Amino acid sequence: MSPTTDQVFPPSPEFVAQANANESLYEHADADRLEFWAEQARRLDWETPFSQVLDWSDAPFARWFYDGKLNVAVNCVDRHVAAGKGDRVAIHWVGEPGDSRDITYNELKDEVSRAANYLDSIGLQAGDRVAIYMPMVPEAVIAMLACARLGLTHSVVFAGFSSAALRSRVDDAQAKVVITTDGQFRRGKPAPLKTAVDEALGTGDDAAPSVEKVIVVRRTNHDPDLPWVAGRDVWWEDTVGEASPHHEPEAFDAEHPLFVLYTSGTTGSPKGIVHTSGGYLTQAAYSFHTVFDHKEGRDVFWCGADIGWVTGHSYLVYGPLANGATEVIYEGTPNSPDEHRHFQIIEKYGVTTYYIAPTLIRTFMKWGREIPDAHDLSSLRLLGTVGEPINPEAWRWYNTVIGGGRCPIVDTWWQTETGAHMLAPLPGVTACKPGSAMGPIPGISAKVVDDNGNPVPAGEQGFLVLDKPWPGMLRGIWGDPERYKDTYWSRFAEQGWYFAGDGARYDEDGALWVLGRVDDVMNVSGHRISTSEVESALVAHPSVAEAAVIGAADETTGQGIVAFVILMESGDTSRDDLITELRNHVATDISPIAKPREINIVPELPKTRSGKIMRRLLKDIAEGRELGDTSTLVDPSVFESIRSQRA
Ligand code: PRX
Repeated sequence: MSPTTDQVFPPSPEFVAQANANESLYEHADADRLEFWAEQARRLDWETPFSQVLDWSDAPFARWFYDGKLNVAVNCVDRHVAAGKGDRVAIHWVGEPGDSRDITYNELKDEVSRAANYLDSIGLQAGDRVAIYMPMVPEAVIAMLACARLGLTHSVVFAGFSSAALRSRVDDAQAKVVITTDGQFRRGKPAPLKTAVDEALGTGDDAAPSVEKVIVVRRTNHDPDLPWVAGRDVWWEDTVGEASPHHEPEAFDAEHPLFVLYTSGTTGSPKGIVHTSGGYLTQAAYSFHTVFDHKEGRDVFWCGADIGWVTGHSYLVYGPLANGATEVIYEGTPNSPDEHRHFQIIEKYGVTTYYIAPTLIRTFMKWGREIPDAHDLSSLRLLGTVGEPINPEAWRWYNTVIGGGRCPIVDTWWQTETGAHMLAPLPGVTACKPGSAMGPIPGISAKVVDDNGNPVPAGEQGFLVLDKPWPGMLRGIWGDPERYKDTYWSRFAEQGWYFAGDGARYDEDGALWVLGRVDDVMNVSGHRISTSEVESALVAHPSVAEAAVIGAADETTGQGIVAFVILMESGDTSRDDLITELRNHVATDISPIAKPREINIVPELPKTRSGKIMRRLLKDIAEGRELGDTSTLVDPSVFESIRSQRA
């Protein structure tokens, strides 16, 4: 056993004594999995109770609780007000420049109702799509819940994505409305956002055909001459703000689509992952209660993710609010105005449960422990991580420096596609190993198998598969059922298993270690980016003839994007200028998060006889390793020239 795997961290007896879930939950779920999920679903309010739990007859298209009806927004808001908890703070919102707002469940209900009334008044109907392209302002959450209330399917697009990325998502989902802000605060300064929407939606012959309205929240107020398209653009304050705070909700089928969220796959075009209502909310709410050990009315939860990612959907909106939680939402970056920001917020609001990505923990480590040490973090009682494997060193630092050695850490593995937590320790049960997500949560089943679907022995790497359907599972890829089957269900079609795209292994003690993607998907700071998406952006530049992109190990961000490009006939631009230009080109085409860390201009790319680029070998080069097997290459000498050209 390696030194990193032999140390275990059991929860304290005090934590165990008060935990929501104990060992028996696993047995209970195993005894009758479907009945277990039905019990979890009954924690929600159903207008029409379901009598059926799962229909898997048309696998891989699942239907959960399908004869039941519910309203997701009512479950997240109204039912808490009805239960007399309307004065409880739902959201402590903290703006980057230092402004803040506390929103109670009463206020949230009014605001969501106003937004729903306005969206209804402009003729939107259940099933229509609404794109939300917003920074982390309260109106973003209100907009999502207003859509849910009306049965509109929201498509949140991360506000860091480019206008081109927004346009392709708006077109794919045929969104009728885009909700945005005038600008967003970025490290203390206002930056435009509405202009990116204008650029995305175009005008005249280029105009996005589906979009009828753009609703603009005033956030930065930075531009007195904000460009405005008459008839299309309206201010949120003049429309939603003027609408009635009373709205009678309607219930929708459990399988009604709640949202589409685009994520990167192994091909150039992002996929719209579809989630529906009853099953998704069941698993988001259950996992929040169980994995985060949520105590209503006492805990203050803080998830550091952006609403543009699935973590923001499930653990900033639906999971916490379905449980009547009080949570913190912070608009800005962790070092604005300085590196104390997160710890000041924890101290000020008495945050008890803190959920962030390992990249941020590694960044905190670099900044130094004197920063968190300057604050009283004693309110914390549980820590979580998500988005990428956490290295044991970062886990230990998180445990000691942030958690004061007393907080269990839940390392949660899941995906946009799974909707909610799948693998994670239970904080009051599991003795954790730093760096391991430990195993499936009760109700979930996973296996680590070889190419043929046979279980691999402990200690050996295999493919992570989910061998039984789960309530929060994606129901498909928007508009492309074939791609859904191909992408997730073809690899182990015979067995009918979902292939997650990750490699994993069980250790001798039965702890499950997720080892990262085994496909062409990179993970940079917990953000998912496909190699081919970056390659397409690069070859779209007039100077580039061919490009190969890989994710190379990076101390802080997990992986860093490294590109190898072959140029067209060389022009006048200097090499350094061109590299800068190409990096910026990718940032504009996709997003600054996709900007390559390193671009190498090379004379050739290593290819097999069938013309396939050998990325594995490029990875070896980028990570400074001895080259693996080069025998299938057409011209092994290509490496000498690549190495000598490396910046
Ligand atoms: O490779 C796994 C990694 O993130 C991928 C899913 O990315 P995305 O859909 O963007 O969702 C991220 C937030 C849920 C997975 O295929 N991943 C996520 N969580 C972990 C992880 N890898 C290791 N450990 C984790 N806890």
